Amino acid sequence: MTAAVELHDDWLRVRFPRGGHADFHLRWLRHNCDRDLHPATRERVTCSSELPDRLAVARAGVDGDALLVRWAHDGRESRYALGWLEEHAYARDRVAPPPPPSELARIEIDGRGLSLEERVRRALAQLDAHGAAVVRRDPGETRPAEQETEGLVDAFAAGGLRVIGTHFGRIEDLRTDNTTNANTDQLGYTDAPVDLHTDQPFLEAPPRLQLLQAIRPAAAGGESYLADARAAAEHLRSLDEAAWTLLTTTKVRFHRKQRAFEKILEAPLLEGEGASFRARWSYFTLSPYRLPFAQMESWYRAHDRFARLVREPRSQYRFALRAGDFVLYDNHRMLHARTGFSGARWVRGVYFDR
Ligand SMILES: [Fe+2]
Repeated sequence: MTAAVELHDDWLRVRFPRGGHADFHLRWLRHNCDRDLHPATRERVTCSSELPDRLAVARAGVDGDALLVRWAHDGRESRYALGWLEEHAYARDRVAPPPPPSELARIEIDGRGLSLEERVRRALAQLDAHGAAVVRRDPGETRPAEQETEGLVDAFAAGGLRVIGTHFGRIEDLRTDNTTNANTDQLGYTDAPVDLHTDQPFLEAPPRLQLLQAIRPAAAGGESYLADARAAAEHLRSLDEAAWTLLTTTKVRFHRKQRAFEKILEAPLLEGEGASFRARWSYFTLSPYRLPFAQMESWYRAHDRFARLVREPRSQYRFALRAGDFVLYDNHRMLHARTGFSGARWVRGVYFDR
């Protein structure tokens, strides 16, 4: 077995030649560089506070019995004997949940030759495992997609779901010329980008599932993306337990105010684990934070760390919906978004509970 290095954002993993591995933060490694020892006394002559806030590695590899790291900010090459790393390892054989997945094939269902009922059955069957299903329409289908909506809703009802009417109505038409909804004063009815969010975080019990059915794609743009907030929370917890604790215990205020609707709710952004996990994530319905002064900095750090994790395209399922395609997702677990667009994009939305 030969030694190997795996580089991650702000840490790296060393696989030792005798088996096993250990994880080290880049900051810890640079802080412990043996070029910062006094040549005569071998005492450390630097403090970690003198290092840049964020460290990056230009190159890392194994050279004989040592780990070599070339640092991006000053080009220094640090050398760490593998034996020394084994002796001082503080995360030996650490096992950590991976970042949120992005391979669309995990959640995409090819609808060729499948009836509407069968497509719905398959979507429901994978919901618990992946939190979402992107379902393609049979390309042979010639009916206008808007004529399929009621059949789709009926098929989900037959699969055990209950339609949840909201202040948007029973079936919501997301289009820029919507005139049927009393509350069109929201981003969803514009052609602007809408970044990752969950729907209706200001309700005590936000709808569990949302169906989005594409009726007419945009002329340009309007792509959809999803991020698994549950996977992100588990991943963040393994990297930064303090951030996870803040996100799961600090109550923030959601305030939705529209022409004919208003609701205020205070709740943490993340709650629960496993099947009872629930994210409330909505930058456009958050009230200004009112936290104790001494907590504001650490709160922003925690929030932004989670946000950067899910906003990484490599942590997102990204796809374009064609007319008749639909996506079903768990609105407690998955964050959803769309890019800005031009043209007469028309998507229908329906909420369900189990
Ligand atoms: Fe939404």
